[in-house]
Amino acid sequence: MVTTHRLSSPNGKAFFRWILPILLLVLSALPAGATIKGSCSGCHTMHNSQNGSSMNFDDSATPNAGLLRGTCLGCHAQGGTQALVPIGSDKIPQVMHTDATDLAGGNFAFITGMKGSGASDSKGHNIAELTGMDATITGLPGGIQQSFHEDYIVNTTNLTCAGTNGCHGYRWAGSSFPKGITGAHHANVDGKLAVADRVGNSYRFLNGVKGLEDDDWQYTRSSTDHNEYFGRTTPIKLGCSSGTTACHASDGSGVKSPDGTISQYCATCHGNFHTIQTDRSSGIGPTAASPFIRHPTDLVLPTNGEYSLYTAYNVNVPIARTGSVPDVPSGAVTPGSDAVICLSCHVAHASDYPDMLRWDYAGACNANTVNTDCGCFTCHTAKDGDSLQ
Ligand code: HEC
Ligand code: HEC
Ligand code: HEC
Ligand code: HEC
Ligand code: HEC
Repeated sequence: MVTTHRLSSPNGKAFFRWILPILLLVLSALPAGATIKGSCSGCHTMHNSQNGSSMNFDDSATPNAGLLRGTCLGCHAQGGTQALVPIGSDKIPQVMHTDATDLAGGNFAFITGMKGSGASDSKGHNIAELTGMDATITGLPGGIQQSFHEDYIVNTTNLTCAGTNGCHGYRWAGSSFPKGITGAHHANVDGKLAVADRVGNSYRFLNGVKGLEDDDWQYTRSSTDHNEYFGRTTPIKLGCSSGTTACHASDGSGVKSPDGTISQYCATCHGNFHTIQTDRSSGIGPTAASPFIRHPTDLVLPTNGEYSLYTAYNVNVPIARTGSVPDVPSGAVTPGSDAVICLSCHVAHASDYPDMLRWDYAGACNANTVNTDCGCFTCHTAKDGDSLQ
């Protein structure tokens, strides 16, 4: 063989001595690149017919777009007892289930009462086809430049998983399947996502968002086993469609977080709860300094006072890393460098608490009491009963 001949030549020695080690080094430095795995037939069906029966997971005779055996919800919201449903050699992360453990995004089952303390629309983002529409909120809370707006492109009536009216994927893609996700599953990059220039290499298919993805979506979690979010040290004044602060990317790649932070991402819809003031009543205040008019995000924890005591990562009160996306999750929090984010207080899909919060704000957060269930005290360490001095 040609290669054998080459390897026995002087060039072959060079191959083993220099080229092979360098090649291995380069290969090991490449991102893990773990895309979806397993047999095509696990996820796709060519005719939706086998021995005369449906191939769809829900046995429906209606074939799905993309020759898939389920829709987004058919695969990801099966409503069973497992948060991770095996499919061939892969697992489908579930967003609605009764497993005792919820994945990092939370669980839409809290909205319907399938799990938790009882049904309530205020426990999360209502996806009409999954949970029914939100019966209390009629518009988009915090739509930029107005505190409450019912005419936004995305609103209570049409909020969905992905596409123009959703969160995942390319957000100018209409609302029919595959809703701006096309190609992302097969080109999914796992782990450290520091580039985020397409859907598949963005954090959890949130176009343009950077971060470090936990490999089991936090099914197992600890202070050193978790997602890492990306943030800024100071929030900016967001704009619409021009310049580097725009939510509508000028290169046509859709609605995006301008700096790749998860909080700016939430702000592409709830802009007023994040932006530096655009007029007297909007935003969080005229500058990124106290006093604020709304709780700040993408703001670094001060190094002084009560904030300086949040130094051990609490997986129920996540913070973001600023500057660059880390290679591995860390159990340390560094005031002066790490930032408060929307996800410090909220989950993304739904929780068992009102306002989609991570803890029982209404019941557990009383000033001058000791309560580790109140996440506010994790940062505001001097507002509990322990340390009033
Ligand atoms: C674990 C599930 C899964 C497996 C296994 C799988 N696919 Fe897919 N595939 C999907 C999903 C979900 C989509 C649609 C969403 C998207 O494009 O990201 C898709 C989309 C596609 C598309 C259209 C978009 C694109 O990326 O080009 C093609 C073609 C495709 N699959 C072919 C295959 C073939 C061939 C195999 C077997 C070698 C296979 N798939 C195995 C889940 C799977
Ligand atoms: C045939 C089943 C199937 C369908 C249909 C499907 N997915 Fe997935 N999806 C998967 C699997 C399997 C994974 C896990 C991929 C992996 O292991 O990285 C996944 C992963 C994801 C992730 C997480 C990506 C990450 O970085 O961890 C998101 C978000 C997602 N899918 C959204 C969607 C949306 C939105 C739709 C509809 C447009 C959809 N999926 C349709 C099977 C499916
Ligand atoms: C694509 C637009 C969009 C994005 C992006 C978005 N939201 Fe929302 N959000 C909505 C809409 C529409 C509602 C009102 C409907 C509802 O509550 O179901 C809402 C409601 C909420 C609520 C109130 C829930 C309730 O019923 O009381 C919270 C809290 C929230 N969002 C937080 C977030 C956070 C945190 C993020 C980022 C992780 C985020 N949102 C990203 C559109 C969006
Ligand atoms: C992840 C950390 C973190 C969490 C959790 C957190 N905060 Fe804050 N909070 C901050 C930071 C950072 C500031 C701004 C500090 C500064 O620069 O003055 C702040 C400021 C405030 C302020 C003062 C605003 C001003 O005008 O100076 C109040 C009030 C407040 N937070 C209340 C809360 C409450 C209530 C909760 C729980 C629902 C909470 N915070 C949870 C980090 C946090
Ligand atoms: C410090 C904790 C904290 C942070 C950080 C935070 N929120 Fe909230 N959020 C709350 C609380 C508490 C409520 C309940 C209403 C209130 O107190 O104003 C709430 C309510 C909401 C609502 C529902 C409003 C309604 O009318 O029902 C939305 C939407 C929302 N937050 C979005 C966001 C977004 C987007 C971000 C980041 C830009 C964010 N929140 C950051 C604590 C927080």
